[in-house]
Amino acid sequence: MDCLILGIESSCDETAAAVVKNGREVLSNVINTQIDLHKIYGGVVPEIASRKHIESIDAVIDEALEKAGVTLSDIDAIAVTYGPGLVGALLVGVSAAKALSYATGKPLVPVHHIKGHIMANFVAHPELEPPFVCLVASGGHSHIVAVEAYDKLKVLGRTRDDAAGEAFDKIARVLGLGYPGGPLIDKLAKEGNPEAVKFPRVRMDGDSLDYSFSGVKTAVINYLHKAEQKGEEIVKADIAASFQDAVTDVLCEHTIEAAKRCGLKTVALAGGVASNSALREKMENMTKKEGMQLYFPPPVLCTDNAVMIACAGYYGYLKQDFADLRLNATPSLNLES
Ligand code: KG4
Ligand code: ZN
Repeated sequence: MDCLILGIESSCDETAAAVVKNGREVLSNVINTQIDLHKIYGGVVPEIASRKHIESIDAVIDEALEKAGVTLSDIDAIAVTYGPGLVGALLVGVSAAKALSYATGKPLVPVHHIKGHIMANFVAHPELEPPFVCLVASGGHSHIVAVEAYDKLKVLGRTRDDAAGEAFDKIARVLGLGYPGGPLIDKLAKEGNPEAVKFPRVRMDGDSLDYSFSGVKTAVINYLHKAEQKGEEIVKADIAASFQDAVTDVLCEHTIEAAKRCGLKTVALAGGVASNSALREKMENMTKKEGMQLYFPPPVLCTDNAVMIACAGYYGYLKQDFADLRLNATPSLNLES
């Protein structure tokens, strides 16, 4: 029998709801983004995010049900992101999901946001099965994860400081490009020379698969200050391309190394940064060279959405991994917990 999951996502600046059939078939995908509201501040303002989520959550859920051509009584379970993320923002989705679960008697499935990002690959590629290695790079997180089974994730490496998306956003800000910076750097970099400036690629000592982006960020800022002091002309497209090249080198090399160490020939990308065209291209080339298979979701399933939450919720539902009404928003939820 078919299983319909209603997914709800509100961890940052997107209020989203979706209905997914049997974990892999999208019946609806509604995303109400707040990007324009936060743009003028150069980043997400948590208090504004929470208020906007409250204003739109009911309408977003109604629209997701309507577009899927179903009602709440057709839904088998309600899946919701309960962490990590902004606490006030998470609370809105969690409260809405709990209210719906209480009113309908349908089970409530708690979902880890990063796990959701990884799961977007199952929706985009129905043939994909664990095990594989996944690079999850977003505005708040950058992890290299071994997906050993649907419910077994192991973190192999992570950033020691900034998330990849955060670094993109910060460099876009110093270049005066706007917010969110990732897509703007991606676009501008296409007109620039990635070899114009050799920015640092930071590796940790020893065997660690961890990495760091604070060094490259500082190097770009120092480069811009020095050029300004000397009155030199700055070619923004070259800086964007060189910065992007450094960040994507680090992400690709570490991910490939992780796959090799695990003896895995399948690699996936997830999270907002996974829509970066240079990252995709570099990863395509590197995996091909290693005889590995690469998967990534379309851009709309890379950035925050509720389809990925419904997909992760489906696998939680199969394992009867249900929460009761004490479920709370957990801003710094551990991926392996
Ligand atoms: O996954 P996501 O929507 O939200 C979080 O969970 O954080 O990721 C948003 C991040 C932002 O930092 C944004 O700048 C970055 O993903 N991003 C990109 C691109 N599109 C979005 N970074 C690089 N290139 C892109 N094309
Ligand atoms: Zn996200």
